[in-house]
Amino acid sequence: MNNKSGLILRHTPGVRANHWFVAIVFILATLSGLAFFHPAFFFLSSLFGGGPWAKILHPFVGVIMLVAFFMLASKEWQYNRVTDADHQWQKKAMDIMLNHPVEMPDIGRYNIGQKYLFRTLLLMIAILFLTGIVIWQPYFAPMFSIGLVRLAVVAHGIAGFVTIVAIIVHIYAAYWTRGAIRGMTRGTVTAAWAKHHYPGWYKEMSKRSE
Ligand code: HEM
Repeated sequence: MNNKSGLILRHTPGVRANHWFVAIVFILATLSGLAFFHPAFFFLSSLFGGGPWAKILHPFVGVIMLVAFFMLASKEWQYNRVTDADHQWQKKAMDIMLNHPVEMPDIGRYNIGQKYLFRTLLLMIAILFLTGIVIWQPYFAPMFSIGLVRLAVVAHGIAGFVTIVAIIVHIYAAYWTRGAIRGMTRGTVTAAWAKHHYPGWYKEMSKRSE
């Protein structure tokens, strides 16, 4: 903690750059994927130079997202272990979200909602990658049976849908926890914000600056 400004560094410049790179690539992967997911979204393909280009580019964008996401995940992994305080937080989650006055359990850097979301993203992005390889024309798909390719197409669509819903929840939660987006853009959060949302992490950071 910087004692003069009362601000605490939450995300380093490296993590911030990595995070926003993932976010941009995720949007590109989503738009190009939706373009040929359903005819109603086909107009999106014009953003990528038309239908054939959207189809060619989408898997490459997906691989870039996978690599960038797993780089981010490797840095965040250590903060996403579920603790006893997280279970206590979960029991009070409704009151916390409704802003009722409750004693906050000493949770660390992230709450259990963020930790579940992190696991969901890890699993879904891994499924998107594996099924994406199976259906990737003309490179890999011919190596697999038509039955497996069909199954992979369905699984890819479901995993894509779950990922989009998870990211909508992630963005809404980031917006709702006023001050969180500042942590991911400018890097710092106020001491009051840290104490209010993540008391265990606040205590740890205060001890470090003593
Ligand atoms: C424009 C959209 C996005 C916004 C506004 C946003 C916002 C944020 C914010 C504010 C944080 C920090 C939360 C905190 O300090 O407590 C965060 C963390 C994080 N975000 Fe995003 N994000 C976006 C897109 C994405 C995407 C597309 C992904 C991955 C596919 C992603 C993955 C993560 C991860 C892994 C973390 C660390 C949290 C954890 O490890 O549990 N974000 N995001």
